[in-house]
Amino acid sequence: MTTQIKEAAPLGKIIVITSGKGGVGKTTSAAAISAGLAKLGHKTVVIDFDVGLRNLDMIMGCERRVVFDFINVIQGDAKLRQALIKDKRLDTLSILPTSQTRDKDALTMEGVEAVLEELKQEFDYIICDSPAGIERGAQLAMYFADEAVVVTNPEVSSVRDSDRVLGLLASKTRRAESGSEEPVKAQVLLTRHDQGRIDRGEMMTVEDVLDILAVPLLGIIPESQAVLRASNVGTPIILDEPSDASRAYQDTVPRLTGEEVEMRIGNERKAGLFQRLFGRSA
Ligand SMILES: Nc1ncnc2c1ncn2[C@@H]1O[C@H](COP(=O)(O)OP(=O)(O)OP(=O)(O)O)[C@@H](O)[C@H]1O
Ligand SMILES: [Mg+2]
Repeated sequence: MTTQIKEAAPLGKIIVITSGKGGVGKTTSAAAISAGLAKLGHKTVVIDFDVGLRNLDMIMGCERRVVFDFINVIQGDAKLRQALIKDKRLDTLSILPTSQTRDKDALTMEGVEAVLEELKQEFDYIICDSPAGIERGAQLAMYFADEAVVVTNPEVSSVRDSDRVLGLLASKTRRAESGSEEPVKAQVLLTRHDQGRIDRGEMMTVEDVLDILAVPLLGIIPESQAVLRASNVGTPIILDEPSDASRAYQDTVPRLTGEEVEMRIGNERKAGLFQRLFGRSA
């Protein structure tokens, strides 16, 4: 009997959006991916781990609705359901904002674990928007993850920092430390891809990036002015349907659920990358 009850419980998957280098598009991607999963009908929550900066609620367009936050819940000043904000566009989407002012040590390992365990009972996907860097805040954001989306720009400094993060995912996470579980499944999301700059030799090609990082490619998001415009009005870019960046995120999100979607750069099919995408897992 007990076993049956356990199997029936919907245990959500925790996905960290991380990068090492700052400003590469983590929060943009966390907002887009969570809205995309919710739009596909999955119950999804997106959590802001970037204590102090608190960008996610602005990009999600709910900053005026924040009453309690992640830190209040961890410190026992509010219940989780008081801090969760239901998205007004997608009823399968919730946001757990963070605090702007309190000190960064307010997030504790035990507190984070308790909140994630509670969220896992209710949501299919828990998306964690990591702060930049490879220190405590970023390590807390990745520690309990089942999967990781390593956001990378096609430039040397970003790729190098992503490589460091891949090292941490393989060593400093609960899955790595337990030794008994599968490792964290990491995939690269290449953002701010600019074919013109690649053609001029100013940026790395997708193939170059993948040769260095040697993990599967989740998607390619173009450099697009639509991203800033959408974030200024609090719309996750994926919901800005006609834009090129929205289309790229719409291709990317179903891959997280195991669907095979052709890899494209703009309208051009990238058969070679498609091979890399699926000829990979073992
Ligand atoms: N595909 C894109 N095209 C153009 N601009 C983009 C794209 N993705 C992100 N940006 C811009 O880059 C800046 C940084 O994005 P974002 O805040 O998502 O990065 P981040 O990795 O979360 O940063 P931080 O490390 O500070 O948390 C923002 O101004 C955003 O609008
Ligand atoms: Mg961010």
